[in-house]
Amino acid sequence: MAAATSSSSNSLLSALDRDPRTDLRLGRARIQFGGRSGKRLCTTTIKCVHEGEEHARRSGRTSDVNRREFVLGSIGGGAAATLPVAGALANPVELGSFSSCSPAELPPGATPVNCCPPPNSSPIVDFQYNTRLPSRLRRPAHLLRPDEIARYNRAYQLMRALPASDPRRFSQQANVHCAYCNDSFRQANSRSELQIHDSWLFLPWHRWYLYFHERILGKLLGDDTFALPFWNWDNQAAGSPLANVIPSAYLNQAPLIDSLRNQQHLPPRLVDLNYSGQDSGPIPPDSTQRAENNALMFQQIVSGARTPSLFFGQAYRAGDANAPGGGTLENAPHGTVHVWTGSAAAPNREDMGTLYSAARDPIFFAHHGNIDRLWVVWKTLPGGRRRDPTDTDWLDAKFLFYDENSQLVRVRVRDALTTEQLGYSYQDTGDAWASARPTIVAGARNLVSNAAVDSPAVAAAAGDDDDDGIEEFGEATEGRVKKLEDVFKSKVKRPIKEDLAKIKEKLRIGKKEEEEDDEEEEVLVIQGVEIDCDRATKFDVYINLPGADENTSCNVAEYAGTFVNVPHFGDRRGGPGHMRTTDLRLGISDTLDQLGIKDARNIVVTLVPRGVGRLDPIKFKGFKIEYE
Ligand code: C2O
Repeated sequence: MAAATSSSSNSLLSALDRDPRTDLRLGRARIQFGGRSGKRLCTTTIKCVHEGEEHARRSGRTSDVNRREFVLGSIGGGAAATLPVAGALANPVELGSFSSCSPAELPPGATPVNCCPPPNSSPIVDFQYNTRLPSRLRRPAHLLRPDEIARYNRAYQLMRALPASDPRRFSQQANVHCAYCNDSFRQANSRSELQIHDSWLFLPWHRWYLYFHERILGKLLGDDTFALPFWNWDNQAAGSPLANVIPSAYLNQAPLIDSLRNQQHLPPRLVDLNYSGQDSGPIPPDSTQRAENNALMFQQIVSGARTPSLFFGQAYRAGDANAPGGGTLENAPHGTVHVWTGSAAAPNREDMGTLYSAARDPIFFAHHGNIDRLWVVWKTLPGGRRRDPTDTDWLDAKFLFYDENSQLVRVRVRDALTTEQLGYSYQDTGDAWASARPTIVAGARNLVSNAAVDSPAVAAAAGDDDDDGIEEFGEATEGRVKKLEDVFKSKVKRPIKEDLAKIKEKLRIGKKEEEEDDEEEEVLVIQGVEIDCDRATKFDVYINLPGADENTSCNVAEYAGTFVNVPHFGDRRGGPGHMRTTDLRLGISDTLDQLGIKDARNIVVTLVPRGVGRLDPIKFKGFKIEYE
């Protein structure tokens, strides 16, 4: 058993001294805990924070990046843990030009479309702030006054009327989204595809996309104060007009209407932020729907999103396999609202329900206005580490957009960290969900053994076999894949207190001074989730609620989050067909706290497939606990 780590830590630290970049990476170190089923083994690894590369390695390809590894030793036995420090060179994702564009990969039944933007006629310029612009206030779509609706309507009329070759034309604007999602672009200096969903690029890319879209509309109107409205679906207030229905502007104004929407979901039907992808059973009473929407928001933005990587999604660097995993907001409500809005009668739930066509519906831009607003709100919430990533591979990621003058502009993530920098802000509409903490299902907390365990000896005496009859599925192991055809439950082992203290100590090693007070977050990893990219897949996760099934609400304290796939083609690299493999990472510290099981030796995790997931099974490989 490799006992602690002083000598190896020392060599680690001296190596770090030589590399000024590594402190950054270590600042985001992650520690994983796990034992193999049936064995009392606790191996702790400080994992390389180069998550994207980790993903690439899992998917069997090598990254463009050089890698060095430092042996750190392990805690509590098992093999030596390694700390691969990769990416000593900066490796942000970049789109270098539009000339690499190839036809988008479209789903069956889609009308062929060329999503590539028109070629640029003048050289690309770097983005510069336009300080002469008046500031713009983005307002909730349901509260727009008639004059605002008329202006909004006119802007889209003008945009739709531009010549087909104009990059600012509405259809071209919609195609930008298609090209960035459905495999049209290659990264600069690489043959890797560029995908802006299911990773930490999701929020900043969409912020930039909306920025230019809004500027183009303003330019067409000759009105620099023009601001896009946002669809305030998170606002569950019951007064009229309702915020959490499709706002009337999108139903009554020709340039804003889209016929490809789910006809069962028109007003007065309330948005279901936790939509399963299927309308089965009776429509819940409005009060129930509102409570569920608030609970979903609370879980995804407050409770389960206490660190940057949980909220923004996984790191995605140059050359990485794409779609390493989206953040909480991207999964739901972002993904669920897409699927809820698209037409159930269209072959691929066009328009909103599949990524190649989503931006053909003007409501897309209002939906993403709200997503963008929630990024702002998230940073103001108490508890956890609610700040933007500081990793330069995120900050220096670069994209290209045509601006309001049809000039092709290169933008960086770091230039869009606040909306004020870009000249706009959001009207405050209150965020009632931020305090909508659900309550515990009566009696559930006693369903499994929750005894706190203080030392390996006590753990050994306690044994693994609680009499709850729920087996431990364990960590991913070679060659084992589980089909999630029905509800699945497993015991998941947590580190004993003594090891937890050591894990915390290790996490502290790499922290920057200002991060020293940060509390570590416990992360439940559902490993190797494999889905068909083209299906609207969803499953929900509950802790210590073994009786959970497809009828169980998200409005319970045991709800720990959800996995949602908005259908899209484009993961050629994902394997045969259009399969995508990813880890679902759920921050569970707050949930464990709320359930009063912070010191529990085991938890029971229940996975509940919903909607089409039941017909077209999701697969996964195992469970793991990590800390970050
Ligand atoms: Cu780029 Cu809401 O998807």
